[in-house]
Amino acid sequence: MAQTSLQKIFSGYLKSGKLFLSKDPLATSYDPVMITHRDKQMELVAAILAPCLRNEKPSNTFVYGKTGTGKTLCVKHVVGELTKTAAENSVQIKTIFINCKMKKIADTEYRVLAQLCKEFGYDVPATGLPTNRLYEIFYESLDAQKQNVLLVLDEIDALVSKVGDGILYNLTRVNQELVNAKLTLVGVTNDLSFSETLDPRVKSSLNEEEIVFPPYNALELRDILSERAKLTFVSGGVREGAVQKCAALAAQEHGDARRALDLLRVAGEIAERNGEQFLDESHVDRAQEKINVDRILETVRTQPRQSQAILWAIANNQNQNQTTGETYERYKGVCKKRGLDVLGPRRASDLISELGMLGILSVRTTSKGRHGRTKEISLLVSKQTLGNITEMLKEDFYFE
Ligand SMILES: Nc1ncnc2c1ncn2[C@@H]1O[C@H](COP(=O)(O)OP(=O)(O)OP(=O)(O)O)[C@@H](O)[C@H]1O
Ligand SMILES: [Mg+2]
Repeated sequence: MAQTSLQKIFSGYLKSGKLFLSKDPLATSYDPVMITHRDKQMELVAAILAPCLRNEKPSNTFVYGKTGTGKTLCVKHVVGELTKTAAENSVQIKTIFINCKMKKIADTEYRVLAQLCKEFGYDVPATGLPTNRLYEIFYESLDAQKQNVLLVLDEIDALVSKVGDGILYNLTRVNQELVNAKLTLVGVTNDLSFSETLDPRVKSSLNEEEIVFPPYNALELRDILSERAKLTFVSGGVREGAVQKCAALAAQEHGDARRALDLLRVAGEIAERNGEQFLDESHVDRAQEKINVDRILETVRTQPRQSQAILWAIANNQNQNQTTGETYERYKGVCKKRGLDVLGPRRASDLISELGMLGILSVRTTSKGRHGRTKEISLLVSKQTLGNITEMLKEDFYFE
């Protein structure tokens, strides 16, 4: 039985026309041939960094804008072009690019400095040296020759939230100690309030120049997608309306090109799985749904066990509107079955509020007359999503 149904899938797959030329152009790691609608921002970055080419020190620069607005792409591109021009003109430039979200590279001050030393060929031990010694090695290797060093710290907010801004203070001050070399920092972030959290001295030296990447609008996203779609799908494999819909949905969110590309990729995969000859708007609708569900599932998956126990208690209650008291009793039952410690009512109530903030529940405080106030809880996810959530909790975390 299973054999025939599997054979059906495979033979159907072989028979259906090919939809994708290649999926690579929709992958996040893909390096697009064309960067559209970012000339102004790239020219600004280029103009700020150009003094490198005359052995002068550029200003430290801070680049910010919401997620998926092309910051990483554009900064990498400009720095790449600058390095090429420098090489052609025999100007000594070294660029270092660090993604501060990367584990093992930027989660401690030690590791960042070790990475910086490594960039200059020093293999320092993974732990053990005093941080001051690492600073010394870094400064010495920087200053070993006359050169401009550009240090791009992408997702710089992640660095500061993990190790504080002391390291930025030190790095922005290093030029005072250097004789031959010059170090320029380029910080990139999608945390729009990031610079407000910095020590004012760090802020002013990091923000000598500031470049904002605005969200893309639907038309701009459509252009970005159309370029990629040409390389991704066979001729006639995608309807214009599908591309427009991806662009419109992503523009509504916050002008996120990554989101638009994801939508198109998932929509394509849905159409392909159904053996369709082309993808249209209906596939984009389904892709949007799938991405939303996946996002909720991921949120639930990464919640602490206690929050999952509370959600399980709520999900398995047929009542549409549940009170905190009722939920707490059910939650205690879940803990007993699962062998979990039972949290106090106040802490449990905090976790319920957190689930509310994640958009999974709606939590309303209501007055019960002389019985005081209570919270009324209802689920915000669709029945189907709820089914997916409970299935995941059952399978991955053994709730029953
Ligand atoms: N103007 C553009 N032309 C072509 N592709 C683009 C453009 N802008 C963004 N992209 C693509 O969109 C995706 C997101 O871009 P990028 O990673 O540069 O965003 P970001 O601003 O750095 O986002 P985050 O803040 O989340 O790091 C990448 O796959 C990138 O190739
Ligand atoms: Mg980025």
